Amino acid sequence: MSALTGKKILLGISGGIAAYKCAELTRRLKDQGADVRIVMTKAAKEFITPLTMQAVSGYAIADSLLDPSAEAGMGHIELAKWADLVLLAPATANLIARLRAGFADELLTTLCLASPAPIAVSPAMNMKMYFAPATQENITVLAERGLHIWGPGKGPQACGDIGPGRLLEPSDLVQRVIEFFAPVPQLLAGVSVTITAGPTQEALDPVRYISNHSSGKMGFSLAEMAQRMGANVTLISGPVSLATPLNVKRIDVCSAMQMHKASLQDLAQCDIFIACAAVADYRPEHVEVQKMKKQQGVDDLTIKLIKNPDIIADVASANTGTFCVGFAAETQDVERYALDKLKRKKLKLIAANDVAKSGQGFNSEKNALTVFSETERFDITLADKKKVANQLLVIIAQQYLQST
Ligand code: PMT
Repeated sequence: MSALTGKKILLGISGGIAAYKCAELTRRLKDQGADVRIVMTKAAKEFITPLTMQAVSGYAIADSLLDPSAEAGMGHIELAKWADLVLLAPATANLIARLRAGFADELLTTLCLASPAPIAVSPAMNMKMYFAPATQENITVLAERGLHIWGPGKGPQACGDIGPGRLLEPSDLVQRVIEFFAPVPQLLAGVSVTITAGPTQEALDPVRYISNHSSGKMGFSLAEMAQRMGANVTLISGPVSLATPLNVKRIDVCSAMQMHKASLQDLAQCDIFIACAAVADYRPEHVEVQKMKKQQGVDDLTIKLIKNPDIIADVASANTGTFCVGFAAETQDVERYALDKLKRKKLKLIAANDVAKSGQGFNSEKNALTVFSETERFDITLADKKKVANQLLVIIAQQYLQST
């Protein structure tokens, strides 16, 4: 059996020069056993013919929302329900903007709105268009909504520029699809895992607060991967703009005090507690009821802060037998401070995060961790946060099973 046997892939092609790669992409997906149906935008047909795509996929291509004969066959809602994965390749800047806005005035974006299937977006465009603030913002919003962003690749572009904006090669895209469908070993089957994620906000007055740059991406990746490994996952999240991973129970909180209360609530039911949140160590002693006013002639302001409870230390001391895993975000002496936290907070594992390095840690797509137990050390090299989450959870599952 091939890696993609029985998988139904809806390949959405929009109008960019990279559309010519879609014939090979379709062939390679089919070689792996996938059933591929093609939807083309009007502009896509200027770059590769529907006849070519029909020949390689073995099906008539779909290109119109208002075609009675097409709707009499597999109508657009049926097609949206049919797919196991919607793959948009190439996804132009225009398609990405339209997806973000939620347009439904042609077939491809309508299918994306109607489909319950996961959607992977593979951007391809000129590098200046890719770096344009509007495109970057649109891609960020799609990622926050839970769409998968695959690429772009870097290299020479059709227009002569060199940089990011190339469609990933068909072999890379097929690899991504295979990894996407790869069965995840059920290392945490039936285990209850609680994960804290994101920042906390400590109010100063009704409109101001103290917080940090945590985006929640690392904690949400852990929640998604733990659920895929078979765990019953509760995600206690500070204020972030990320979609809740499938089949994960989410509890939204704002302050450290609220996160503390939510974390200790059902502790007897919690087998593994992973504290990925960037919790404020201190909060303002007084929260003003009205917005604080600027005082004429007063050039400095002192705000008294008081200590927040240490959530993971309290979870670890609660005597519920919960296996506690902390993070340590450090800018210097990473190993020493991490080991100190491991001991002081009575944790089983700590994931040290060097947040002084650029391209990893807070609000980045990637991360790298060094994980310490009392006696062992594991290195997780720089990678996409989902991959890092997967590797960290494998370590956690092994250590947890040894401890029970
Ligand atoms: O959210 P992202 O943008 O994806 O970024 C991910 C991350 C950098 C926030 C994450 O990988 C990370 O390192 N999280 C821990 C951040 C942190 O605040 O670490 P710390 O060294 O200050 O705290 C040590 C541990 O104690 C952490 O597990 C923390 O959750 C926990 N803690 C801290 C204070 C407190 N009052 N209660 C706690 O439980």
